[in-house]
Amino acid sequence: MSSIITADFPASRPRRNRRDDFSRRLMRENILSVNDFIYPVFVKEGNNLHEPVLSMPGIVRYSPDSILPVAEECVRLGIPVLALFPSIEPSLKTPDGIEATNPEGLIPRVIASLKKEFPELGILCDVALDPYTSHGQDGLIDDSGYVLNEPTVEILVRQALVQAEAGADYVAPSDMMDGRIGAIRQALEAHHFIYTRIMAYSAKYASAFYGPFRDAVGSTVNLGKSDKMTYQIDPANRNEALREVAADIREGADLVMVKPGMPYLDIVRDVKEMFRMPTYAYQVSGEYAMIKAAAINGWLDHDKVMMESLLCFKRAGADGILTYFAIEAAKILQQQK
Ligand code: PBG
Repeated sequence: MSSIITADFPASRPRRNRRDDFSRRLMRENILSVNDFIYPVFVKEGNNLHEPVLSMPGIVRYSPDSILPVAEECVRLGIPVLALFPSIEPSLKTPDGIEATNPEGLIPRVIASLKKEFPELGILCDVALDPYTSHGQDGLIDDSGYVLNEPTVEILVRQALVQAEAGADYVAPSDMMDGRIGAIRQALEAHHFIYTRIMAYSAKYASAFYGPFRDAVGSTVNLGKSDKMTYQIDPANRNEALREVAADIREGADLVMVKPGMPYLDIVRDVKEMFRMPTYAYQVSGEYAMIKAAAINGWLDHDKVMMESLLCFKRAGADGILTYFAIEAAKILQQQK
């Protein structure tokens, strides 16, 4: 007993504030809200499609019609933004991913129908070529497989313009080419899309946690054994991520993102403190899969771990989270009200 009697104790007894629910609520520093969520969904051509993504239990690919009730549910729950990711028919995939710029393509059609039915729901679209290329890389490649910067940026600009034209509220370049934010910003302004927001995947790491996503959009097979180390950031690096964020802000990003989420909370904190920008974290497919797998095995309490993982993004400094848990978490938040 005497060993814990220090100069501080018992004057300082932190457990006083933790003793009752009212005092825990009174001193709570961060609160998770439905307003923090962006819900990523996969879409594919078809009718009434609910095609399971095997490595992401609970996640399915929707068709342009079956996505509508999901959007309606987001509106009902108060989720502010839906993020669209396409699973493109293999026959439409080419080395240059040009289908990404087709104004009649899957994504522009889905954007237009969602904005028509649910104008109050924000729509975010990924700008990158990997769902559209026959080799699964995010851009055009040369004979050695190296992803070419400027030729890729040219196509990305066209892809972003098509998305803006269809009504996307946010274009979100996830490709990590140099200079793409500036090029897209200039093109949007030149075409009078002055209110289209750019959410830049600024600190995007070359992560193995994207595995299940690549299954979902069907790029795993095409990518084969190659990786994305020549454009995404080395997981070992911190300063490099901050330089990327700085560049994207100078080039015209309205919001910045760190990706993946949970293993990169230090970067979320750094970005928020250094730039004071609207800052988002992407709790990626592999993070979702890990929690689901452990919960299915009975090793973790699903709902508690899900809510804790999301709250910790807020504590780290994120203004919002792209998460496949958005609907499940929003339902829990609604019950708590
Ligand atoms: C495409 C893109 C990826 C993700 C979002 N946009 C995959 C990648 O870069 O290989 C990953 C999302 C997730 O894992 O949930 N550039």
